[in-house]
Amino acid sequence: MLAARTVDLTKVYGEGDAEVRALDGVTVEIRAGEFTAVMGPSGSGKSTLVHCMAALDSPTSGSVFIGDTDLADLKDKALTLLRRDRVGFVFQAYNLLPTLTAEEKRAPAARHRGGARLIRTGSGPSSTPSACGTG
Ligand SMILES: Nc1ncnc2c1ncn2[C@@H]1O[C@H](COP(=O)(O)OP(=O)(O)O)[C@@H](O)[C@H]1O
Ligand SMILES: [Mg+2]
Repeated sequence: MLAARTVDLTKVYGEGDAEVRALDGVTVEIRAGEFTAVMGPSGSGKSTLVHCMAALDSPTSGSVFIGDTDLADLKDKALTLLRRDRVGFVFQAYNLLPTLTAEEKRAPAARHRGGARLIRTGSGPSSTPSACGTG
């Protein structure tokens, strides 16, 4: 079973002389219930890949699936619900609330979906995140 996958994913930042092709045709499958590490030198596109896979950034072309859901089929509200209910994201060095513990940081999302559950990755009940990233 797949937690997430990409098909021919491309992400281009900027244009003209400033164009950076951060992802160039990436097809990858992330299996449920496993830890997957994305490794590569600084600037090779790791963060761009996990941002696109977590619906935090949009691809230039290609597809991202969370489970069977093609992110391209989702409008803003559905994307927000997917981010809230199916993705857990640990940011590398920003977007953190330094005064809160990890448990306190995830509490608002848990409250909004009506329950206090521990975040787990992998194949669990559909209410637990199916993908997790750091970038
Ligand atoms: N928002 C952005 N605007 C322009 N270029 C970017 C942006 N984010 C990343 N890049 C560029 O895309 C490439 C891949 O970056 P990134 O995904 O952060 O790599 P990694 O996480 O592997 O270090 C780098 O050349 C980086 O400078
Ligand atoms: Mg990075």
